[in-house]
Amino acid sequence: MQIAIGCDHAGLGLKEDIVELVKSLDIEVIDCGTNSTESVDYPDFGKKVSELVSSGKIEKGILICGTGIGMSMVSNKFPGVRAALCNDLFTAQMSRRHNDANILVIGGRIVGKDLAVEIVKTWLSTPFEGNRHLIRINKIKAIEEDLNRHGHC
Ligand code: RB5
Repeated sequence: MQIAIGCDHAGLGLKEDIVELVKSLDIEVIDCGTNSTESVDYPDFGKKVSELVSSGKIEKGILICGTGIGMSMVSNKFPGVRAALCNDLFTAQMSRRHNDANILVIGGRIVGKDLAVEIVKTWLSTPFEGNRHLIRINKIKAIEEDLNRHGHC
């Protein structure tokens, strides 16, 4: 498996910790930056990871900014992306079980390293439950398609 990971300056420290963790799990990391503490705009890096997931080139992504809010907003603009802002373990688990989230977003100014490691491990190892939840995911897809075709649902 490959995972695309991106952050802004506020998420850099946590991104480095998460990259190390993901590599230790024998998962290949596609590092989409940023790689310095210089102030950058989160949409530029959210876009890189989201495009890879939206196009199907990469199955899953992880994004980190200060709160996780900006990256979530950017990421969920991309068709087929289901980005979940998970700053706690329960949300991380449920975002996989019920929402089949394909991008995990974490707030680097909110979550410390130890919790982030547990969030990422949980998110990567929790399967989607399907069944009634699949019906709901398909309704999200139908909304996306209607909006693309007609500009409304
Ligand atoms: C950067 O200062 C901060 O606004 C950004 O990392 C993020 O929290 C936005 O949602």
